[in-house]
Amino acid sequence: MKIIGGPASQALATRVAREMNIEPTLCEFNRFPDGEIYTRIMEEPMDEVTIIQSTATDSDLMALLLMIDACEDAQVVNVVIPYMGYARQDRKFKSGEPISARAVARSISADRIFTVNIHKPSILDYFSSDAFDLDASDVIGKYISSLHLKDPLIVAPDIGAMSLAENTANGVGIQYDYLEKTRLSGDTVTIKTKNMDVCGRDVVLVDDMIATGGTMAESIKLLKSQGASDVYLACVHPVLAKNAVLRLFNAGVRDIIATDTLEKAQSSVSVAPLIAGSIKNF
Ligand code: R5P
Repeated sequence: MKIIGGPASQALATRVAREMNIEPTLCEFNRFPDGEIYTRIMEEPMDEVTIIQSTATDSDLMALLLMIDACEDAQVVNVVIPYMGYARQDRKFKSGEPISARAVARSISADRIFTVNIHKPSILDYFSSDAFDLDASDVIGKYISSLHLKDPLIVAPDIGAMSLAENTANGVGIQYDYLEKTRLSGDTVTIKTKNMDVCGRDVVLVDDMIATGGTMAESIKLLKSQGASDVYLACVHPVLAKNAVLRLFNAGVRDIIATDTLEKAQSSVSVAPLIAGSIKNF
């Protein structure tokens, strides 16, 4: 088995290789003078290979396609896409739009594909190969538990993030809830936790990704105004676009916890054991 890390997932690939007691395969990443991407795998990819590469940018996707092509002589090619870009456009919102998640999935061909908390599990059906989504809620939950927070409560910023919050909380015996919007009149809404009082408690808001930080910034302010003590954020994918980090600290967050599906300063939780375990299972 060779573990081949793409340019966007070098640290994660190294951690996966370490989990499996093997050396990560060295690759060269470069650009031609006209800007086109050049990549070379420095060892002959034979037998079984696992390519690990998140595709947050168009260049990352291109690099992944080139690496898959470079592995044409391998007997089995596993592709791990820890964070898959374009996944949020998983349907046509307006006529004339593409289903971008489908377009990306169709471009990727391998024997097995693994994603981590993909935006919607139904996207897996767009791949032509067997595709599996891994769940990072357990590793995030363990990290939250290790912080020994004061009477902690895990909160989803909306009902869509509820199952992630539930899975994160259940493994470590922490209570969970979600923020619910209630319309009081034509122009008045209240947003508060559905069942639990946050007053005096440390709260961890959990979502699959933080992109611009808009959803979380509003939620932090809300929880603070309702008497929450420290508010932490936890996400699988720290997209953290533009000024998201400043925006979140400005809104009063204590700390941002994220995994290394995207390699950022906030990526304190590794999904490497999850990926290594899943690959070994085949
Ligand atoms: C939405 O479906 C996702 O789960 C996140 O809630 C969303 O992508 C966060 O975006 P932003 O950080 O830009 O508010």
